[in-house]
Amino acid sequence: MPVPTTRTKENSTIKINTEICNGCGLCVSVCKDFSLILFNNKAVADEKSILGCIGCGHCMAICPKGAIEITGREISPEDLFQLPDKSSATTYDQLLSLLQHRRSIREFTQQEITPEVIEKIITAAATAPMGLPPSDVNVLIINGKEKTGAFVKDFSNYLKGLRYMSSKLFLALMRPFWGKANDEFFREFIRPVFNFYIDDMEKGKNYITYDAPLLIYFYGSPYSDPADPVVAATYAMIAGESLGLGSCMLGAIHPFIQNGKRARRFRESHNIKYKSREGLFVAFGYSAVKYSKGIKRTFASVEAI
Ligand SMILES: Cc1cc2nc3c(=O)[nH]c(=O)nc-3n(C[C@H](O)[C@H](O)[C@H](O)COP(=O)(O)O)c2cc1C
Ligand code: SF4
Ligand code: SF4
Repeated sequence: MPVPTTRTKENSTIKINTEICNGCGLCVSVCKDFSLILFNNKAVADEKSILGCIGCGHCMAICPKGAIEITGREISPEDLFQLPDKSSATTYDQLLSLLQHRRSIREFTQQEITPEVIEKIITAAATAPMGLPPSDVNVLIINGKEKTGAFVKDFSNYLKGLRYMSSKLFLALMRPFWGKANDEFFREFIRPVFNFYIDDMEKGKNYITYDAPLLIYFYGSPYSDPADPVVAATYAMIAGESLGLGSCMLGAIHPFIQNGKRARRFRESHNIKYKSREGLFVAFGYSAVKYSKGIKRTFASVEAI
């Protein structure tokens, strides 16, 4: 049974040109689905694969002779491209410098972001490891102050209808179900944030999206792994930094627009195709502030075993 996603429920097909296959076995070694074997010194498709060809394309990408073609599950030989020379890749020091310069930016200039820059962000983000192919990560682009402003206003109005979720009674009722950590998190973080999101929005202060001129929402589908859209959003953020943009992840929109009829209506009215276990909005814009120092961040724990 092929692994289903919203985009396909079929396996890919494997076509090998045995005339040009030299039997090097590279395709066999990279196929972790065991869809390929060597037989009489030629690569052949094997019936005993684990999931059936998932269309990852690794075999096509590694074959030195161009002897293998994978089609289906949204992949085809046309998707192959020549990799840029490795010497053009960033060094660790350059990458670290880029990452160290990134800070969550919440003050943006009025400058809008061109479609060319957005396309570059999307191109870079699409290189992220996004789960079993074809990726089930969806991307919604809300570009321009007018559109982002209308979106956040609509979201704030929508939140008003969920205000009961921050009431003392609701939290007391929920505690036995979702436990101490969630209770503390809701009381000490979600509740005040929820209230000031709505109240400040009414006073004309936008602490939800910080008046960023561009919002990009990465979200999954009922089939995707929760991590998939988050990894893509992270890549997008780094790409934005390399293009001179400031950015900030906005975690507080996605969870509120998942469950119930109102949430469904909100999603539909903003062209959000699916509810999903995880999703992340990222705000982008040209930074109105400049940091001269970095801040060292640490993990909760780093242990070698
Ligand atoms: C999943 C996730 C959700 C976040 N949501 C928000 C948010 O809703 N609003 C906000 O101002 N910052 C948000 N942030 C940014 C964090 O607050 C920020 O990463 C943290 O303060 C560290 O600061 P730095 O990014 O400048 O290192 C989010 C970050 C992550 C990873
Ligand atoms: S596309 Fe992936 S799963 Fe299919 S044969 Fe090639 S390496 Fe194996
Ligand atoms: S990598 Fe190409 S040439 Fe090598 S065994 Fe596989 S199909 Fe044949």
